[in-house]
Amino acid sequence: MEALLSSSPTLRLRPPLPPSSSSKPSLSVSTFTPPSTKTKTNFPFHRKSSQFKPKRFLRVAASSSARSATETAVDSLTVPSQMKAWVYDEYGGVDVLKLSSNVTVPNVNDDQVLVKVIAAALNPVDCKRRIGKFQATDSPLPTVPGYDVAGVVVKVGNQVKGLKVGDEVYGNISEKALDGPKQSGSLAEYTAVEEKLLALKPKNLDFLQAASLPLAIETAYEGLERAGFSEGKSIIILNGSGGVGSLTIQLAKQVFGASKVAATTSTQKIELLKRLGADLAIDYTKENFEELPDKYDVVFDAVGLGEKAGKVVKEGGIMVVLTGAVTPPGFRFVVTSTGSTLKKLNPYLENGKVKPVIDQNSPFPFDKVKEAFAYLETNRATGKVVVYPVSEEYILEKMAQNM
Ligand SMILES: NC(=O)c1ccc[n+]([C@@H]2O[C@H](COP(=O)([O-])OP(=O)(O)OC[C@H]3O[C@@H](n4cnc5c(N)ncnc54)[C@H](OP(=O)(O)O)[C@@H]3O)[C@@H](O)[C@H]2O)c1
Repeated sequence: MEALLSSSPTLRLRPPLPPSSSSKPSLSVSTFTPPSTKTKTNFPFHRKSSQFKPKRFLRVAASSSARSATETAVDSLTVPSQMKAWVYDEYGGVDVLKLSSNVTVPNVNDDQVLVKVIAAALNPVDCKRRIGKFQATDSPLPTVPGYDVAGVVVKVGNQVKGLKVGDEVYGNISEKALDGPKQSGSLAEYTAVEEKLLALKPKNLDFLQAASLPLAIETAYEGLERAGFSEGKSIIILNGSGGVGSLTIQLAKQVFGASKVAATTSTQKIELLKRLGADLAIDYTKENFEELPDKYDVVFDAVGLGEKAGKVVKEGGIMVVLTGAVTPPGFRFVVTSTGSTLKKLNPYLENGKVKPVIDQNSPFPFDKVKEAFAYLETNRATGKVVVYPVSEEYILEKMAQNM
């Protein structure tokens, strides 16, 4: 299995975007054929597919100089009172998810913006929440799931200072993943988000790539920070190929200056982990990491291996536990969404040191969200599972402007 290592022309399967003209405010638009998928998806414009060649996929990236054109495009879109959204009104498996055309577009509080969703990504927490694992602290049903979003600001609240209509943004829309997460999430045409949870989309990334990042990269960063990870320390990441682990490898190496990064995965993903920056990629189907001689300053457990994981912590070291039982010297935390982390990491994304990793079965179009969740729930996804496009009008307008 080959994941898409986005934004690096040398590493990705997709061709790079053409260079954008600096003299003319313009959009970089390219087309490419998506990699073959096991899941039959209706790429990409499920509603207006007649306008497009089948199996072609559009990538749109705006240069910063395209701002005024962007604003014109967004101003021309009126916000309806109702929208399409995925909803569930009872806890259960993927079949409780229903695509509804008449969900009320959320109101915008003073500190919020309304985002027209162009791409969204799935996270295991969406699945755990949907099956009712967090009922005690969940917001009331019915729920529109989805934490990760990339899209365009179409409305701003009275107190919003740093964002304006037309800004292309990304973020994790629920400040606390488990404690009263948003009832109206990102798997919808519009979502209301606090300004403080968002950042401007990195200039070099398209919406699909940007949507793949927020919750996973915030988890990776917060976990490393809470563990006191710093230059010269060593780390082992258990589950280096998942949404969180694939970014944790990169942050440990590129942002925190790790002396050694080890990570576990299965046979087919070993090469990917090395390309992400792992000094040592351990095939968990062939070797027991806990029987190897190496010990680490930090163990980052994104599997939930409990005591076994604790065996490879150096004396004085620490263990970050994302899921499952916590055993000494471990600690568990639940990610807090914050736009400031994304802003801090934007330079690393923009200079290509940290790259989105997108599963090759992505993107799933909006009407295939159930299939996307079923795939994520196999626990075999590599990097992120992304839903794109959610709203296509914005992209169509930008294309039209660019013709
Ligand atoms: N506490 C928090 O704030 C927080 C935040 C985010 C995520 N999480 C939790 O962290 C966990 C990971 O999240 P994620 O988004 O990275 O999940 P994910 O993307 O769904 O993880 C899928 C990956 O897990 C790998 N995997 C499965 N079993 C493994 C094993 N025994 N050893 C090593 N790799 C294994 C798979 O690789 P193979 O196909 O090679 O097996 C696959 O690539 C989930 O339980 C999630 O709920 C917690």
